[in-house]
Amino acid sequence: MPTHATSIGVAIQSFENTYGVRPSGIWRAPGRVNLIGEHTDYNCGLVLPFAISESCFALMTPRNDQLMRICSLKETTIPVTIESPHEIHLDALEPKTMSTWLAYPYGIAYLLTHHGMKTGCDIVVYSQIPIGSGLSSSAALACSLGLGLCELYSLGLSRLDIAQMVRQVENTFAGVPSGILDPLASLTGKLDNLVYLDTLDNSYRYIPFNPTSCDLELLLIDSNVRHRLSTSQYAQRSQECLEICENLSVTSLREVSLDNLESALELISSPVLKRRCRHVVTENRRVELAVECIENQDFVQLGALLTQGHESLRDDFEVSVPELDMAVEVAITRGCLGARMTGGGFGGSAIALVPKGSSEAVRKAISEAYDKHGYALPDFSIPRPSQGATRQEDYC
Ligand code: GLA
Repeated sequence: MPTHATSIGVAIQSFENTYGVRPSGIWRAPGRVNLIGEHTDYNCGLVLPFAISESCFALMTPRNDQLMRICSLKETTIPVTIESPHEIHLDALEPKTMSTWLAYPYGIAYLLTHHGMKTGCDIVVYSQIPIGSGLSSSAALACSLGLGLCELYSLGLSRLDIAQMVRQVENTFAGVPSGILDPLASLTGKLDNLVYLDTLDNSYRYIPFNPTSCDLELLLIDSNVRHRLSTSQYAQRSQECLEICENLSVTSLREVSLDNLESALELISSPVLKRRCRHVVTENRRVELAVECIENQDFVQLGALLTQGHESLRDDFEVSVPELDMAVEVAITRGCLGARMTGGGFGGSAIALVPKGSSEAVRKAISEAYDKHGYALPDFSIPRPSQGATRQEDYC
């Protein structure tokens, strides 16, 4: 696979070959890992993600007419290839669900034409984030375009405005009823920090997080089981949470606290909905406790919370898959402080809090277990909390 620097160079070259001009700017938007707080964001709950260094890049130049042209650089193809650009007139953009990746650029452009984007533009995108890995490749794509177009046309939208717009694109154009977790993490990430976000009012604060300073590593395990949120049961989970709210006569599950969980559960007759409710309510509490643990440097307790979070996602919310369960189980057996799936689930990635020095043994044990069960081998990395979306000043 080409290195990052090579790819930027190749992307600029491809842009020039395709459009005959240099890009006016390049914008980078990262993927994210969610440390804890899963399936809480569309329930007005708490989340604790961080942006990673793997990113989506959008190269753009405005045009004088109303045409938008966009193509994607396929980094995994060697030699690197570029598809011929997709073209659309801005007037032809409509708020409708599309099943291809063009839902994101077309959705962003549609919404921005209502915020003062007056002309079309030429765009090349390329991404380092594997699609369906649970690391938020689609939000990274939409954020790189959203931030880039806002800056290119001086539209004056805040990062929170852009995150809300990206969420709207996911909901309306891609047909996924997701929350604001992914775009907000991508747009507000900070080096060596977690973003502690309350989706009730979208307020957030940074929590310094540097496990290596405590002789730990956060290992990311990509199960290589690819999910697709639009076809997975993600929408069903969101629907189930709405049903619970109706049962309880509340506007969101955030109104149910751990203290009144038992009495709330008595009002829900469906055993399935009881379990869904229990996950969301207990997960919000785990996020609060996780923040306390990190601030007190209590990584043993943090590990326990991660594992409890996984069990809740596996048993109560039912969004895990055997490959993720296996990664978590083996990691814990091999001495990790805790482990859990991260992201929406139905495939994707897991994280494990590993004592420094045992990362190699943990990786080997997980790979061997996968191999023994005939699963495709997982990929491993140690993600570092990184800066959020930004213009790449050094390239243009
Ligand atoms: C996906 C969605 C997010 C969030 C997570 C689960 O990543 O895009 O909004 O709901 O799943 O926490």
